[in-house]
Amino acid sequence: MHEKPHTDLILGIESSCDETAAAVVRRGSEILSNIVASQIATHSPYGGVVPELASREHLRNIVPVVRAALSKAGIGFHDLDAIAVTEGPGLAGALLVGISYAKSLAFALNKPLIPVNHLEGHIHAVLLEQAQLRAAQRESLELPALALVVSGGHTHLFLAQRQGENWTYRNVGRTLDDAAGEAFDKVAKLLGLGYPGGPWIDTLALHGNPNAVHFSFAQIKPKAHRKSSPADLAETTFFSFSGIKTAVLRYTQLHDMSSGIRQRHRNLSGHPGIRPLDALPWLDQKTLDLIASFQRAVVDDLRRKTFRTAERYDAASLLVSGGVAANRELRVRFTAEAAERGLPIGFPSLTLSTDNAAMIAAAAWPKLQTQEFANEALTADPALALGR
Ligand code: KG4
Ligand code: ZN
Repeated sequence: MHEKPHTDLILGIESSCDETAAAVVRRGSEILSNIVASQIATHSPYGGVVPELASREHLRNIVPVVRAALSKAGIGFHDLDAIAVTEGPGLAGALLVGISYAKSLAFALNKPLIPVNHLEGHIHAVLLEQAQLRAAQRESLELPALALVVSGGHTHLFLAQRQGENWTYRNVGRTLDDAAGEAFDKVAKLLGLGYPGGPWIDTLALHGNPNAVHFSFAQIKPKAHRKSSPADLAETTFFSFSGIKTAVLRYTQLHDMSSGIRQRHRNLSGHPGIRPLDALPWLDQKTLDLIASFQRAVVDDLRRKTFRTAERYDAASLLVSGGVAANRELRVRFTAEAAERGLPIGFPSLTLSTDNAAMIAAAAWPKLQTQEFANEALTADPALALGR
């Protein structure tokens, strides 16, 4: 069937953390443009996102990024059917930039505004591409799907199910402290590596022995988490990644690694923008082994708990998304175990793994069908939860 070119288009806007992003997506599955302005250079000297600087950068970037998304898609503002924006979770000041802009735009154009949960966006990053793949094979995704959303701010497990146009989510796992990506970032920082830490550790781990250092994930005691009800405790999978960061620090202290770390930090400050592989000569074998062992421990913990949860809830497929889903060892080990168990597994392409706005526009498509629009009071919700 011939489709008219300028129909069923949603403009997605994402500004929850350190990427200003805009994308135009047709029917939640066809990406016409996907523009991401990264703030890595701004936050890099601090080894983490500085909220105040993030807000300013979003404000600087939002207009050109949206303009670029429309121009790449070859459309004008009036061709849009709706505007979708990340409502939360994320940094309040950062979210407010995207929301204020999207609200004004929707008002000026008299188009519906659709608020999207960032975590639902990450799940749709993988659903979007799975929809294309399965349509080509005339298949549909096996449901319920267990979705692991694993990024710098989140480590969550959701059981995703579809009822008509509507997607529903049940939160069946979460971290009690740090997110997995946060552990990658903090460990990279304490070893004198670059920011963000995930891609550094991913690359350098290939040169180390993952069995050199043993890290144990002590059984997480849910009773330590007072806010949860007994039913919640029994049914929820808990992660915890703050202990391993401390264990890595202790290892470096016990093995006299601090002068090497300081030197590496100095080298790095003198070479802003250097790529991980080019920094390889600054790393001794002991550090490379530590990096590989850390990554193996985190990936194994995520893998064990995710597959155990999939079994417990009889999930028919597995979806893995968020920045840490870009990790090569994670992809290899999850894919191998899924194959062993005969469980279909999906990852987003690398560009859709980290924060982007195509995932926000894709998540908004079902909401356009059911008219889940924002009211005038829409504001940022930094702690917005997904599912029940
Ligand atoms: O999804 P994302 O862009 O932003 C959040 O919503 O947090 O994820 C960013 C996180 C950072 O912690 C970064 O270090 C991590 O994803 N990350 C990785 C890799 N690429 C990005 N972690 C491990 N391996 C990677 N290849
Ligand atoms: Zn994210």
